[in-house]
Amino acid sequence: MNKEAISKPISNIKRGMQDLIVDTTSVSWVDGIHGKLYYRGIDIQELAHFSSFEETAALLLYGSLPNQDKLAQFRWELQKWAHPQEKVLRIIQELPQYAQPLTILQTGLAALACLERPYDNNNSANIGENILQIIAQTPIILAAAYRRHLNIPILEPRNDLSFVENFFYMISGKIPSLRSAKILETALILQMDHGFNSSTFTARAASSTLTSCFSAISAAVGALSGPLHGGASELLFEMLEDARASNDVKEYVKNLLNTGKRVMGMGHRVYKTVDPRALIFKKFLEELTPKSEKNSDLEILSIIEKEASHFFKEKNKPIHANVDFWSGAVYKKINIPSRLYPAIFAAARVVGWCAHILELRQDNRLYRPEAKYVGAIKVPYIPIQQR
Ligand code: CMC
Repeated sequence: MNKEAISKPISNIKRGMQDLIVDTTSVSWVDGIHGKLYYRGIDIQELAHFSSFEETAALLLYGSLPNQDKLAQFRWELQKWAHPQEKVLRIIQELPQYAQPLTILQTGLAALACLERPYDNNNSANIGENILQIIAQTPIILAAAYRRHLNIPILEPRNDLSFVENFFYMISGKIPSLRSAKILETALILQMDHGFNSSTFTARAASSTLTSCFSAISAAVGALSGPLHGGASELLFEMLEDARASNDVKEYVKNLLNTGKRVMGMGHRVYKTVDPRALIFKKFLEELTPKSEKNSDLEILSIIEKEASHFFKEKNKPIHANVDFWSGAVYKKINIPSRLYPAIFAAARVVGWCAHILELRQDNRLYRPEAKYVGAIKVPYIPIQQR
């Protein structure tokens, strides 16, 4: 037993690792006080407005915005790795129709790892290729998971479409309009990275053991799928439908909060003000909702937000809408089904996870925290016959 650990005061424990700084990063910064998010120092508002998926991904992965040549090369590399893997798709087809897209993504990533010949996890060329493969294969696996759920044929990506257009196409079989493609692209940019959130921490913790990128990313997908993280967007949609069905949205919210339940899409560990990503999604929803639309998602969500904010203000809790609050309603407007909301999050965040793995590999140290042991010690072993 580590005597020093026993003697450490229990008040030093940061449950949920709140406010605990465990490493440095220059990938992204969440300024929770001012409601700002920066990727490699660039304000997310600017990236959402001007940048593309590929440009932002290259920025996060390699540290600076690519010039024309580097961007073309990066696009080409992503395309090169975007060939559907027959064996992986066959495994997906064998899974039950009710399997969740993120669980299928974990399975798909593990299957991709199985297809790799044994290789050196520490070789930077291998790592560089693996991350491109993972980013390129993720939308293919997620779209295949969705089409498996519907029991309809899986579609291959097309060379004439961009990353975002292909994602939309492989899900729906349709090429998105310019407007829908821009919305999906912005959504992916907004969710690419976000400091040391749970799934990113998971990716880093796993990667710090020098395991393969596939297993680190697969672990991160598992963390993302929980309802307090990426799973919130799908659950929020269920809440929205329940609120609509209740016929009294205000009462519904009051009841929810007074019975100790959580309003999905609200609250954040870091933001003590409005999440800047939520503002962008809300603006999209306002633009996409005709004024004449009765009982619109915008209207219902606005009542939920107002009522919940009032409740939280009275309790002196700085809880505001987060990225998931408006995003689902926006996706619905561009015909993306609720089953895929966490999947969109994953297709975006996979880039951030990979950027963090690359960063950590520059100067790796095993993540190995401690817990305060509060159990018994020196307990005698009782033979089974005497128990
Ligand atoms: N609805 C009702 N109460 C809430 C909410 C909420 N959405 N969020 C926090 N609280 C309350 C919570 O009940 C607790 O109250 P008390 O101190 O009286 O027990 C207090 O606020 C602190 O909550 P916490 O869970 O200790 O705080 P946290 O920093 O761990 O919470 C959170 C962060 C995101 C888990 C939480 O706000 C939450 O559960 N939100 C709903 C789920 C959600 O929207 N998740 C997506 C997060 S953003 C996207 C992402 O990064 O994944």
